[in-house]
Amino acid sequence: MKRRRMIYEGKAKILYEGPEPGTLVQYFKDDTTAFDATKRATIEGKGVLNNRISEYLMSQLTAIGVPTHFVRRLNMREQLVKEVEIIPLEVVVRNIAAGSLAKRLGIEEGTVLPRSIIEYYYKKDELHDPWVSEEHITAFGWANPQDLDDIVNLTIRINDFLSGLFLGANIKLVDFKVEFGRLWENDYMRIVLADEISPDSCRLWDVSTNEKLDKDRFRRDLGGVVEAYSEVARRLGIMPESVQSEQKGPVLVK
Ligand code: TMP
Ligand code: ASP
Repeated sequence: MKRRRMIYEGKAKILYEGPEPGTLVQYFKDDTTAFDATKRATIEGKGVLNNRISEYLMSQLTAIGVPTHFVRRLNMREQLVKEVEIIPLEVVVRNIAAGSLAKRLGIEEGTVLPRSIIEYYYKKDELHDPWVSEEHITAFGWANPQDLDDIVNLTIRINDFLSGLFLGANIKLVDFKVEFGRLWENDYMRIVLADEISPDSCRLWDVSTNEKLDKDRFRRDLGGVVEAYSEVARRLGIMPESVQSEQKGPVLVK
């Protein structure tokens, strides 16, 4: 079989050339990193779970009219996506103080914020993804005011929708990160949600116990990473294929 052309390899995913022009295959690895990749591990089954969770969340968002790059899941680890020009911003939404906001501004983790806050980080590993303002974004041309307007409107809709969706699964959406891309259709461009939405890019806490069900289990050495991600998938009602079924070897025919 012809080896696929790799387009880009990131810390947790690989992008391959897609089956037709304008498409890519997004492959979810089991690798995980934190703190600018100074902390690394391979967590067996994580990629399968994130592929499935991100597929579900992107599909639900599509259903309410949020444009995304997602086309369909291809298999346990891969999904077909539309090729977009990634806007070099990590757009973070916070509903409850945690992580870098709690640390930077000295707000106790778990404090419900007076309103949802949107922050931007410039995607540049060498600079450790610095915090930037709308002024920086438009002055340096990473996005123009119209793009930013679309990004903010989409981000607010995504936050409102996902907050409700997770709450229905007994999970608090504390904060999350999204990325957007420019999708070209002939001469027409629109901003669409890209990348992934998974427990790698969200903080998810159990509603009653505040137990962490996300990547903080890895960042803070709490253990049980795959169990937490599985629990998120289970609560969302999307665990039909077990992670074990990916393993090679004899398969029980039912
Ligand atoms: P922070 O509190 O570390 O700034 O993270 C805010 C949210 O963004 C949290 O849900 C985790 C997510 N995030 C990423 O997806 N990628 C990153 O590189 C970082 C730093 C955070
Ligand atoms: N993914 C990021 C890194 O490895 C950080 C994080 O998610 O905490 O640098």
